[in-house]
Amino acid sequence: MSTTPTIPGLLQTTQVQSEPAVATAREQVTGVGTWFLRNIWYFAYPGQQLKSGKTVAKTILGEPILIGRDSSGKVFAMKDVCPHQAVPLSMGRFDGCQVECPFHGWKFGVDGVCTEIPSLVDDQDFNVCRIKAQAYPCREVQGSIWVFIGDHTADLPAVPVAPGLTDIKYCQSTVTLMIPTHIDYACAALIDPAHVPYVHNAWWWRSTRNMKEKSKKYIPDDNGWTMVKHQPPGHSIVFKLIGKKIETEISFRLPGCRREYLSYRGRTFLSGISTLTPIDETHTELNHTTYWTIPGTSFISPIVDYFVREFLGQDKTIAEMQEVGLRSKPNLIMTIKDAGTPGHWYFLLKKEWALSRAESRPFKNPVIESILRWRS
Ligand code: FES
Ligand SMILES: [Fe+2]
Repeated sequence: MSTTPTIPGLLQTTQVQSEPAVATAREQVTGVGTWFLRNIWYFAYPGQQLKSGKTVAKTILGEPILIGRDSSGKVFAMKDVCPHQAVPLSMGRFDGCQVECPFHGWKFGVDGVCTEIPSLVDDQDFNVCRIKAQAYPCREVQGSIWVFIGDHTADLPAVPVAPGLTDIKYCQSTVTLMIPTHIDYACAALIDPAHVPYVHNAWWWRSTRNMKEKSKKYIPDDNGWTMVKHQPPGHSIVFKLIGKKIETEISFRLPGCRREYLSYRGRTFLSGISTLTPIDETHTELNHTTYWTIPGTSFISPIVDYFVREFLGQDKTIAEMQEVGLRSKPNLIMTIKDAGTPGHWYFLLKKEWALSRAESRPFKNPVIESILRWRS
């Protein structure tokens, strides 16, 4: 149970918060589009876009968070609310070591601990380090900044990564789009194979004219699933041009990460991770980071970004249409087998992750090894 410590001599208005009891957690983990998964890493910001000595303000799961990179290059995250009188710390100054609130000049280290209260006079003995802006675990992995949202910080899970990149040098680029729906709808769409020929029908990708029956093997993997390695479909001009010695592996990880890599004769040449980060109940940030391993080709990043933005823009457009329908809060048939099975698994995985954290027990992957068949 986490509580806010009482600091003698201070008038505190902070509410004491406690974790929901297990029974409450069981009630909370039902319903589509009604709750967020906690105690897990969320993609927060592309590392390349945050220089040393800079900060950026973000809202993640409705929480205002200040993300920064100190003068040594290390990333950090803390609540973007001054614990004194609530002014956002992002509106103050950061000198590369300490954040200064613009209201009364209180300073905080990158760990959120208060280091200075300028109004105190010399003989006013007060231990300022008892005051803290809440710090969040923050990591930079494969050039992306992730923040852990939740109370279970003693035993942090692994940060999701783009696959197939171990011991390989790569270039990378991230495209960011805002999806106007709850993460549950955005995630179901991200891993739904049935929308592909309808939504992604570009001349360079595919159309509904060449729909075929597909059959793919899925296995439970980590806190998600993997569609085992196979040759990519021949519908796209892109794959027709590259030839047949290509293999692809697609996988999913909580909280909303679709990962895919392509290899030629066993060596990865392209990898990507699409991540979903809830901003609030009706906005989800989609970040897609592409990694490519051909040396000296970082200059192609505007071309890569163009195609990724075109492709994901199609998902965004359909989500904007979906948002119109969702306003009437309809009852929905979210998943129809087998094309809907990955979406169904997402809801099972999410629920099991929440319950396993609430019950302090290991996560038990609910995905069942299966061959899924659909037309797309
Ligand atoms: S509100 Fe931040 S120092 Fe007073
Ligand atoms: Fe899509």
